[in-house]
Amino acid sequence: MAKIKKINHIAIAVKDVEESLKFWRDAMGLQVDHIEDVPSQKSEVVFIPVGDSEVELVKPTSPDTGVAKFIEERGGGMHHLCFEVDNIDEMLNQLKEKGVRLINEIALELPGRKMAFVHPKSTNGVLVELYEVL
Ligand code: CO
Repeated sequence: MAKIKKINHIAIAVKDVEESLKFWRDAMGLQVDHIEDVPSQKSEVVFIPVGDSEVELVKPTSPDTGVAKFIEERGGGMHHLCFEVDNIDEMLNQLKEKGVRLINEIALELPGRKMAFVHPKSTNGVLVELYEVL
């Protein structure tokens, strides 16, 4: 059985990075590690470490993404929860065997990591991301 190691990050969809940082950085006192343009996700991501995990502020750079639609519908907010696992392929098989609906049946390979999303229909309404750090 695949093992969940930790919560890797919590992603929050935002319209305006500077506006969001007034809360996360200025009021909460968290520090931004870096801001990254992620073309594969058509978004800009602000990485804010919190202990062993991170808060990621995700700002879409194109209107045709899931995150952009999410912001349009709900004005932003918590978008997904990401669990880091020791073996993502094993985890995906395990979930499939249990009848869990997956958005990505096969993990996507990105630099330094493999990832997949689990459908919120199977998770009590929470979009769950799985990560394996390579
Ligand atoms: Co994520």
